[in-house]
Amino acid sequence: MGAPVSDASGAGIPLTDRAKRIFVKSFGCQMNVYDSHRMADVAAQEGYQEAATIEDADLVVLNTCHIRERASEKIYSELGKVRELREAREVAGLKTTIVVAGCVAQAEGAEILRRQPAVDLVVGPQNYHRLPQLLRAASLRSGVVDTTFPVEDKFDHLPASSPATIRSRGVSAFVTVQEGCDKFCSFCVVPYTRGAESSRSVAKVVQEIVGLARAGVREVTLIGQNVNAYHGQDEGGRAADLAHLLNVVAKIPGILRVRYTTSHPNDMSEALILAHRDNPSLAPYLHLPVQSGSNRILAAMNRKHDVGDYMDIVGRIRAVRPDIALSSDFIVGYPGESDADFQETLDLVGAVGFAASYTFKYSSRPGTPGAELKNQIDEQTKSARLLTLQQLLEDQRQAFNRAAVGRIMPVLFEKSGRHAGQVIGRSPYLQSVYAVGDAALIGAIADVEIIGVGPNSLRGRIVAPASQSLDEIQRNAAFSGEADASLRKENA
Ligand code: 5AD
Ligand code: SF4
Repeated sequence: MGAPVSDASGAGIPLTDRAKRIFVKSFGCQMNVYDSHRMADVAAQEGYQEAATIEDADLVVLNTCHIRERASEKIYSELGKVRELREAREVAGLKTTIVVAGCVAQAEGAEILRRQPAVDLVVGPQNYHRLPQLLRAASLRSGVVDTTFPVEDKFDHLPASSPATIRSRGVSAFVTVQEGCDKFCSFCVVPYTRGAESSRSVAKVVQEIVGLARAGVREVTLIGQNVNAYHGQDEGGRAADLAHLLNVVAKIPGILRVRYTTSHPNDMSEALILAHRDNPSLAPYLHLPVQSGSNRILAAMNRKHDVGDYMDIVGRIRAVRPDIALSSDFIVGYPGESDADFQETLDLVGAVGFAASYTFKYSSRPGTPGAELKNQIDEQTKSARLLTLQQLLEDQRQAFNRAAVGRIMPVLFEKSGRHAGQVIGRSPYLQSVYAVGDAALIGAIADVEIIGVGPNSLRGRIVAPASQSLDEIQRNAAFSGEADASLRKENA
């Protein structure tokens, strides 16, 4: 490894002394964000520093998303740009290695090399712990592909993120606790790209989060394609559910708030619903995709739940946590969706009232049962339905935000604002909140009165000092190791 350099460009530093740099560009979901971070951690072990810009990187990784056609196709135009970049760098005597990772890599494998021969390495989401060996192989022969589902667990082979790296990523972190999906919704590629459901053990998740908390992380979002199907082993070798894991994680010293995403309605257990009543650190927010409000379409989608089941969960969770904010994913234009089916989706949205949502036009994905269906919906109809649904959901989002005005809520401050003396954080309901306050508040929760509402954020006024400042937390005896001991007891 070369000597570290202090400026972003590395200008003026002899090439041989310049540390190698990696740039990971992440597409798609939060799990890819997490994987991107972990790939950077693996590369750090190999002497790579994170490049400030893609132009400055010796190793470019595109961590790709396959969920919809547009996301998938975008990769090829990105690769075209990266290839041009490589050619420009070559003129300057610099070598660039190009890696395609993530779900397009998994789904298309060697096809990527055929469409873009400049790619050096294609690596799937379960194999990136092998990056060092794969990069060595790719330096000897171009076009290496590793998309097997390995027997070993990548998490056992990933290096921990360094405290400095954790700090640079902020006070709120994602942690993958579950991966893969056994549900096989008929529109979705995830069961094919991410494989079968698997869960990390409680101890491994705790170990990772203790490391994050020690470096200053204050909020963790436990993520999984079907996070509420979590069934990791506890210390006694029994299967623990997500409610248990959330309770254990909430007790980790320094962790002030926990979240989880994404959930499937069929795995919304009573224990998890009750965790929203009993676990004070668990944010009152539930992302629970319903996809459609039509029972006919839900059946065609192989969702294995109907509208009644969904409404039942909404009722039960609101009974124990009346202020919970709900969000969902919706697909419009699934094959065979009639105007009446679509109207039922609008009716469901009207009946539930969502704080936020993600809406998608159905995108036919090769290899999924939905792609085989004859009664595909035309683009124009899909676009019109998308717009109507988005307008309704946007009205609901704004109404939800307006209702916050006058309320006092605990805000976890995450970063400085654009203007001096301003700090930005998140409400328990995932709303972005900015207020006048000192940067020392970053990493602490303060009570904030909401005094205004903008299109994408709330304006607040700090009314009570931070409940726990960063200093306080770091002085906390827990950081001397007592916490680990109490956690071990908790898990036993
Ligand atoms: N077309 C459109 N949207 C899709 N999603 C998954 N597969 C498709 C597809 N083929 C959406 C679902 C899912 C979210 C992550 O992406 O709404 O919940
Ligand atoms: Fe895809 Fe359905 Fe699994 Fe979600 S539950 S990842 S939509 S197959």
